[in-house]
Amino acid sequence: MLSAWLLAGPVLAAEVNLYSARQENLIKPLLERFSEQTGIEVNLVTGKADALLQRLKSEGRNSPADLLLTTDAGRLHRAREAGVLAPVESDTLHERIPAQYRDPEGYWFGLSVRARPIVYVTDRVEPGELSTYEALADPKWKGRVCIRSSSNIYNQSLVASMIAHHGVEATEAWARDFVANFARPPIGGDRDQVLAAAAGQCDVAVINTYYLGVMINEDDQEQREAAGRVAVFWPNQEGSGDGRGTHVNVSGIGLTAAAGNRDNAVQLMEFLSSDESQAWYAQVNHEYPVRESVPVSDTLKAWGGFKADDLDLHLLGKYNAEAVRLMDRAGWK
Ligand SMILES: [Fe+2]
Repeated sequence: MLSAWLLAGPVLAAEVNLYSARQENLIKPLLERFSEQTGIEVNLVTGKADALLQRLKSEGRNSPADLLLTTDAGRLHRAREAGVLAPVESDTLHERIPAQYRDPEGYWFGLSVRARPIVYVTDRVEPGELSTYEALADPKWKGRVCIRSSSNIYNQSLVASMIAHHGVEATEAWARDFVANFARPPIGGDRDQVLAAAAGQCDVAVINTYYLGVMINEDDQEQREAAGRVAVFWPNQEGSGDGRGTHVNVSGIGLTAAAGNRDNAVQLMEFLSSDESQAWYAQVNHEYPVRESVPVSDTLKAWGGFKADDLDLHLLGKYNAEAVRLMDRAGWK
């Protein structure tokens, strides 16, 4: 009787609990696929990134969560610093995910790459006028730049990447001139910057491309038309003055320190890094796979290839606080 129970035990316990800051429709089909293949049930809790981190902190060792899935290396780093993650050793994850897209000690792993290039209004800007993020501080862009606020982690990470490359002093001087070129005080999300540019409020914007991908494929006519008026420019490519590559970031996953279903959790992490999962991400959410060998959507293909900055993304977390202070000093609202 007892042995029968022991045998049944692992089967009953075949589950994994995931706290996810991603929209449910951007992850659920993949989780269902995982359950079909492995028999491991995934219990999904979806919430805002900062709220989920707070919840993990307050639940501590009693947290039911095995995994935290969230966007931005800056946030993943915050979770590590908060002590809610545990390191994972997995040859599969190490092989599949390039070193710059994971924590050096295995506390988190990037699962999809998002690029944050410049977009420009094709009627009013020639691509030859653009070159680097740095050059957007030139007075010729006065009153022509749209970008969201400094409270947004994507901008914090962009500035953190510049601190990593140029140091605080040079980045602050750039930020002051860049802010002086803003067409309006920052408002709204990345899509709103495209809408503003299309409406003539500004000529260039800095946004994550998957928002444009969604707008292009949107049923809503206003969004589709706005997206049609802008084009993507990949900044900081070879021969542009500073050819370090366009700023990229990741969405990623980490095992929690409280994980009770560790093996199942690692299996799910490995599944999400597989070619099949990577291709799905790139098709549905217009993000980039972590490996170049995985095919991308037609929308992404149309924007062409680009060189990505190969900065170790854990540095975005390391310099986050410095970036926030710097943007504040520079008057970036
Ligand atoms: Fe986003």
